[in-house]
Amino acid sequence: MENSAIPRFAVISTLSVIVAAAGPVTFNLRDADGRFHPSSELTQSKATVFVFLATDCPNSNSYAPELARLYKDYENRGVAFYSIYSDPTETATKVREHDREYGIPFSALLDPHQTLARETGARVTPEAVIVSSSGEELYRGRIDDRFANFGKTRIRVDKHDLRTALDQVLVGKPVSNPDVPSLGCAIPGLNQAEPNPTFDKDVAPILFHYCASCHRPGQIAPFSLLAYPDAAKRASLIAMVTASHFMPPWKPFRTMANSKMQIT
Ligand code: HEC
Repeated sequence: MENSAIPRFAVISTLSVIVAAAGPVTFNLRDADGRFHPSSELTQSKATVFVFLATDCPNSNSYAPELARLYKDYENRGVAFYSIYSDPTETATKVREHDREYGIPFSALLDPHQTLARETGARVTPEAVIVSSSGEELYRGRIDDRFANFGKTRIRVDKHDLRTALDQVLVGKPVSNPDVPSLGCAIPGLNQAEPNPTFDKDVAPILFHYCASCHRPGQIAPFSLLAYPDAAKRASLIAMVTASHFMPPWKPFRTMANSKMQIT
């Protein structure tokens, strides 16, 4: 049986591609009270659950009661729980207030550089990841099947995927379904087709090709543009002069200016 919920946010499903975990999950993240939590803490529990949340996502907010139940049922069996906030705009204060209001009983870690989201492959909220005491990723995906499809909520939850995975982990069995796509709100910035441009790979070749003939020591331009600091401190000026076609002096290249020159 299904009824229609009205999510305010675009609901998307996670990529079903398992992100190749190249090694143990590593992190060193600050919690909402300012304390650091390094990945060495994983060894203190049989397993650790990271639940990716967002303060403004109705999908993940609707899970607050189930998160409290999960904590009550598994914490005393050696499972550690953290909520993870990977939207860079979330602040410690906002997260603390949110978790208090929704009664989330475990620590919140702030992941402003999205390292843990990248390491684990989490892409939406809510999404749960189980990591072993040695940092191996054992499960990633939905908490249960309450969201049937975009905008559709099941009245009865049938599949408790996170609980099933935890039960298997705790008796030393392999997780039968280690990657179950989750429906939720996209974690901003992680679903782009192209990764963020980097200086060495994307920007430097352009500067060398179009600018360095004049912008190098001893040439006519007033400063060099050969190294990252030279370019980075003039990033907005560079964006302006290339967009306005003032630079390079003889050739407009609007597309490049727009897509590559926003080094900040
Ligand atoms: C043919 C030589 C030449 C090339 C090629 C060239 N520049 Fe310049 N650039 C100059 C000169 C000369 C000036 C100083 C002009 C002036 O102040 O009027 C300058 C000034 C600038 C300035 C400062 C503008 C300002 O208002 O102070 C920026 C930023 C800049 N160039 C960026 C670039 C970038 C980025 C490229 C490559 C995409 C580039 N230039 C390619 C010769 C060049």
